[in-house]
Amino acid sequence: MENVRVSNLIDASTRIDSDKTSATSFVKDVPKITRYSLADSADGSNGGMDYHIEIINKDDKLRVLKFLRRFFFRDEPLNQSIQLIPEGEDSTCWELEDYCSNASFENNLSLKAVSANGTIVGVSLNGKMGPPPVEEPEYIRSCKNAKFKEILKLLHYIDKNVNVGERFRDLSVLEIRIISVDTNWRGKGIAKGLIDKSMEVAKAQGFHYVRADCTSQFSGKLCARMGFNAIYELDYKDYVEEDGKQIFSPAFPHTTAVTYMKQL
Ligand SMILES: CC(C)(COP(=O)(O)OP(=O)(O)OC[C@H]1O[C@@H](n2cnc3c(N)ncnc32)[C@H](O)[C@@H]1OP(=O)(O)O)[C@@H](O)C(=O)NCCC(=O)NCCS
Repeated sequence: MENVRVSNLIDASTRIDSDKTSATSFVKDVPKITRYSLADSADGSNGGMDYHIEIINKDDKLRVLKFLRRFFFRDEPLNQSIQLIPEGEDSTCWELEDYCSNASFENNLSLKAVSANGTIVGVSLNGKMGPPPVEEPEYIRSCKNAKFKEILKLLHYIDKNVNVGERFRDLSVLEIRIISVDTNWRGKGIAKGLIDKSMEVAKAQGFHYVRADCTSQFSGKLCARMGFNAIYELDYKDYVEEDGKQIFSPAFPHTTAVTYMKQL
């Protein structure tokens, strides 16, 4: 069991009140496509880098998992710091695949950014925030991959601290669980486009808030810039074993995991 020192950015007893008038109504036919163009970039040349954003459906599952294996599984700061998956084009972490698959492909909430030639260049796997977490749930206890188990434990730890006082009990919160952009397409606003569209979809489906647990400085910086509020922050150097040994040491500048929320 880890001995963890944390800093909490907001008063633990704070409860965010629900918008009492808005019952959660799930709209089935949310707009399918939003078009974003890079044609207006500063130098006027977009190098063929137009893309659009679409809702992910169950038929996308294999393509999306293949994309995530190539990028997120290797380069998300925590995955990278513990080398979650071995080298090799087809190597994977089945437990992370299950984590991605659970309710992410058929809920009309997850998004893909697709280039003009049909290639997936970005993904946001979204889902509805569940009930407050219990002590070490079964899916963590039974996780056979020791490395991924540590990540699940960290996410559970963050979730417990975020949910302190059950302050989201009456609220419907959309969680952005996984966000990933093709390395060749980064720094062009695709993650911003995915988050903007996630908020649009969430609002259309009656959610009150959008939440993102940012394990990367880059996604965190982006959420802050988009008007999200940081409600909880964990410095990786404070998340330690009983003997004081740091569990995750992602490469600089990824020094903290920050939970951001934005009211819709
Ligand atoms: C985080 C990630 C999704 C951002 O995607 P993106 O499409 O490049 O993001 P955007 O273009 O919308 O820009 C995000 C911000 O991060 C900055 N940023 C992104 N990559 C950066 C890098 N390598 N170095 C410095 N800044 C970077 C951007 O400059 C931008 O901030 P700014 O506009 O204030 O300068 C992408 O870097 C990624 O897939 N990372 C690996 C997976 C990961 O860490 N996911 C998030 C886990 S919570």
